[in-house]
Amino acid sequence: MTVMSKSSEVMKGAWKVSMTPDDIYRHPMDIAWTFSYALSQDRVEDLYKRAKQNQWDSDEYLPWDTPVDPSKPLINARSDVYHQMPFFKKLSKSQQETFTAHSTAQLLSQFLHGEQGALMTAACVTHSVPDATAKLYAATQTMDEARHVEVYARYCDKIAMVYPMSPWLKALIDATLQSNRYEKVMIGMNMIVEGLALGAFNNMYRTTTCELLKKLTFNVMRDESRHVSFGHIYLGPVIAKLPEAEREELADFAFQAVNIIVNGGTTGGGLANRVDPGFLEVLDNSGIDHEDFFKGMKEAEEAGITPETPPGQIHSIKDLMMPALARVGLLTPTVRKKYDEAGIPVFDDPAVLEAMEGGHPVAA
Ligand SMILES: [Fe+2]
Ligand SMILES: [Fe+2]
Repeated sequence: MTVMSKSSEVMKGAWKVSMTPDDIYRHPMDIAWTFSYALSQDRVEDLYKRAKQNQWDSDEYLPWDTPVDPSKPLINARSDVYHQMPFFKKLSKSQQETFTAHSTAQLLSQFLHGEQGALMTAACVTHSVPDATAKLYAATQTMDEARHVEVYARYCDKIAMVYPMSPWLKALIDATLQSNRYEKVMIGMNMIVEGLALGAFNNMYRTTTCELLKKLTFNVMRDESRHVSFGHIYLGPVIAKLPEAEREELADFAFQAVNIIVNGGTTGGGLANRVDPGFLEVLDNSGIDHEDFFKGMKEAEEAGITPETPPGQIHSIKDLMMPALARVGLLTPTVRKKYDEAGIPVFDDPAVLEAMEGGHPVAA
C-alpha cells in the first residue's frame, strides 16, 4: 500500500506505511471456551443468520473497472462544509478541487485504518465472548471486516492516496483493543466506533459522485448496520444483569471513549483537525498555508459559519452513538455528570439509529 506523496501533483506514493514497535502490544483479555453449543434462538441468532445470508464477494459485486480520476473531487462540492466558507471561496478552482480530493482521500484512509481496527476487535470478541451464538456472530463480523479492509484498500489504491491514521482514531481503537473485558471491546467498537462510522458512511454514500464508491459504501453500510445492532442486542441484556459497580465501570469506559472523539478530533473536518498531521498534509498537498486556513476557519466561525454537519447529513454522536449508549443503560446519572463537565451534550432520541439499523441510508 502506498501513501501520499507530499507533492500535490504526484499521486503515486513515495513511502510505505511502517510498523513501529508501538503498534504491537500484549493483550490482557480472558479467552472463553464454551461447550454449550445450542444456539440462542433469539435476535442474536437472527443476526447470525442474516450475516450468513448477506455475505458478498467484492470481486463479483463491485464495478472495479469504473474509471476514477484521483485529481477530481469524489464528493459533491455543495455538500462540503468548507465550500460555504468565505476563505475557501477565495481559493482558485484548482486549489479547491485538490483540497476536496485530498480531504476525501484522508477520510477514506480513516475508513481503511478503522476497518483494520474493526477486524481485530471482531476477532477479539470471537475468542473472548462466552456465549456460543455471539461467538458465531462475531466470526461473521470478522469476515465482514476483512472484506471492508479489502475494498477500502483497493479503492485507496485506485485513487493512489493513503493518508496516515488520525491519532485520535488510533487512540480510540487502541483503548478498545487494550481493554480487559469483551463488553468494553463491544462498547468501543460496535457502539462507538461503528456508530461513528455508520454516520460517516451514510454521509459518504449520499454525497459521493463516484458510482464505484457509492456502491461500495452502500454494501459496507449494510454490514455495519448489523454490527451496530449486535452491540445493543447482545450487550443490552448483559449490561442489565451486571452489578452496579461493573455497570458504572462500563459507562465510564464509554464516556472516556466518547471524550477521545470529542476532544481529540472530529469526523469530517473542523478546528480539531489542526492537530491531525494527516489533515495538515492535505493542506500542504493543496498548496494552502496552515495559518491562512485556520484563520479562515476562525473568521468563518465568527461570522456564524461553523463546521457543523450540513443539513441532511447525519451527526454520528448525536444521532447514533449517544442514543445507542442510552438504550443499553450506559448513560448513568454518575456518568451524565461527566459528560456535562466535559461539555458533551447527551442525546437519547433513537429515531435515526433505528432507521439506520434497518440497513439503509437515511436522511437525517
Ligand atoms: Fe467494517
Ligand atoms: Fe463493522
